[in-house]
Amino acid sequence: MGGGVANSQALRLGLWVRYWLGQRLAPYHGTPPHVARRMLQLARVTAKDRVVDLGCGDARLLIAAAKHHGAHGYGVELDSELFSAGMRAIGKEGLAHVITIEQKDAFMVDLSTATVVALYLTVKGNMKLYPKLVEELPPGARVVSFCWPFENLEPSNTARVDGIDLFLYEFNKQG
Ligand SMILES: C[S@@+](CC[C@H](N)C(=O)[O-])C[C@H]1O[C@@H](n2cnc3c(N)ncnc32)[C@H](O)[C@@H]1O
Repeated sequence: MGGGVANSQALRLGLWVRYWLGQRLAPYHGTPPHVARRMLQLARVTAKDRVVDLGCGDARLLIAAAKHHGAHGYGVELDSELFSAGMRAIGKEGLAHVITIEQKDAFMVDLSTATVVALYLTVKGNMKLYPKLVEELPPGARVVSFCWPFENLEPSNTARVDGIDLFLYEFNKQG
């Protein structure tokens, strides 16, 4: 048990160091399951949606979207250990037919078929992604962000869980 805790602490420390060095949009912290459920409700996720998690960690949000809402999921994660944990979790849940994840940079993802984007990054991370979201998302795509807003946008809806805000945005709305 001691080794497992030490490994997980080392993993988190490594991610924070790389974050502060500027190589990542955010350090790792998994969204608590009840918060992930609330994010998916706020984004009105249904079985018709393709949910994209940019920085998907261990794929927990995509798994919740598939299990509880029947949505298809796609995620990318830079970190190899988290990516492997995500692959294992998707396999264990028997959801490999509806969720795909890749070890890849969020900036390399084609967002043109995403109907919902889930983010748990930072304000700076959101702002770095903002031009890509505007350029690539289809009209009316929803972006749901845990904890961190887009400072330049008014959310179309918000929620609060355990004292932390969730923000919903509708991108490229027509009319
Ligand atoms: C706060 S965690 C959120 C994890 C997951 N979305 C969740 O809700 O449980 C942010 C994740 O984004 C990943 N990340 C940061 N920058 C990234 C990038 N440019 N491309 C892909 N993943 C990135 C980090 O490694 C980390 O796992």
